[in-house]
Amino acid sequence: MTKLKWGMIGGGEGSQIGPAHRLGALADGLFEFSAGALDHRPDEGREYAQRLGVATDRAYGDWKEMLEGERNRPDRIDLVTVATPNSTHFEITRAFLEAGFNVLCEKPMTMTVEEGEQIVRTAEASGKLCAVNYCYSAYPMVRQARAMVRAGEIGKVRLVVTNFSHGHHGDAADAENPRVRWRYDPAMAGVSGQFADCGIHALHMASFICNDEVETLSADFASTIAGRALEDDAMVNFRMARGTVGRLWTSSVAIGRQHGFDIQVFGETGGLRWASEHPNQLIYTPVGGRTQIIEKGESGLHDDAQRLSRVAIAHPEGFPLAVANIYCDLADAIRGQSRDGLPGAADGVRSMAAVHAAVESASNRGAWVDARPPMFR
Ligand SMILES: NC(=O)c1ccc[n+]([C@@H]2O[C@H](COP(=O)([O-])OP(=O)(O)OC[C@H]3O[C@@H](n4cnc5c(N)ncnc54)[C@H](O)[C@@H]3O)[C@@H](O)[C@H]2O)c1
Repeated sequence: MTKLKWGMIGGGEGSQIGPAHRLGALADGLFEFSAGALDHRPDEGREYAQRLGVATDRAYGDWKEMLEGERNRPDRIDLVTVATPNSTHFEITRAFLEAGFNVLCEKPMTMTVEEGEQIVRTAEASGKLCAVNYCYSAYPMVRQARAMVRAGEIGKVRLVVTNFSHGHHGDAADAENPRVRWRYDPAMAGVSGQFADCGIHALHMASFICNDEVETLSADFASTIAGRALEDDAMVNFRMARGTVGRLWTSSVAIGRQHGFDIQVFGETGGLRWASEHPNQLIYTPVGGRTQIIEKGESGLHDDAQRLSRVAIAHPEGFPLAVANIYCDLADAIRGQSRDGLPGAADGVRSMAAVHAAVESASNRGAWVDARPPMFR
């Protein structure tokens, strides 16, 4: 099968997420790295792309040059990944969709709900895919949890509790470090800090596993380090459309927690527990029964979990391969095979609506507010 052609914007040398995209896109031989505008500094971006094997004429200085360069090529890219800082996602994603490219956009997809709705509509009008990189949802054992919930193996879900709390911005002495400071500066980060950065992964995961959507929420935000205009800690209670009760804690000052992303789902006949620091294991307890460890790669897993496992049982299969699973589903979708678990623009705008709802709630002493984007009310 011919490889699909892939390009990336952002993800330059030294970036946090760029390597995971490269490893993920290239892991299964489905894509080749054909074009890139990798850095906000044109020369550095061109040079790095060439070093990574991109042809000179497709190593672009910026995304507009890349759009023009790729638009009329007979061998133009099949997919572009947008891995730039948040405030640029909307403009770049919309432009590439309008030009008829499939897009994988980093989270958060946009800065406002209105922009998010525009992306949903632009994707629909273009007939192209717009995926959003909620890559934790692509770990095999997260897919197993989702399949178990869908198959009724824990009964109706009563409660979902999720945390994405780390301590990497917890050192007050480091608060003025430019790589940290922008995240709490509204001019750079938008209306929310930690909730928009990490909380939305946890909220998406709750919807994803429970097969349900957040309807209302109540939020308490705190800025625990002096000078931070945006929250570095948030507690969010939410309710989902099917009545599921949700609790979410996200923090960047939880010193001692490293990645700190976990989720527990409690149904009428059983409970499930998964943590990103132990991604190969899903903990399952049937009501009145023994707690069991369901291990990635063992027999009897649901199809989706089996399909997305590559290496043998008990061997670590980590973050870049979860990202690779997003690319596997994208390759299938580009070739016309529908892939149910692929996070899309609708998920992106739901997250943005939840962020703005949480900001509104937190500034009104935790009042319960509608967390749905207007287009889904
Ligand atoms: N899905 C995840 O788990 C996950 C994890 C980390 C980051 N992210 C997201 O990925 C995005 C990038 O985050 P990061 O931590 O890699 O940032 P970063 O600051 O480490 O890297 C950003 C890169 O984009 C380049 N860049 C900036 N503006 C550009 C432009 N206009 N055109 C081309 N290149 C440009 C920079 O030169 C740099 O190479 C953010 O939106 C972030 O929220 C997602």
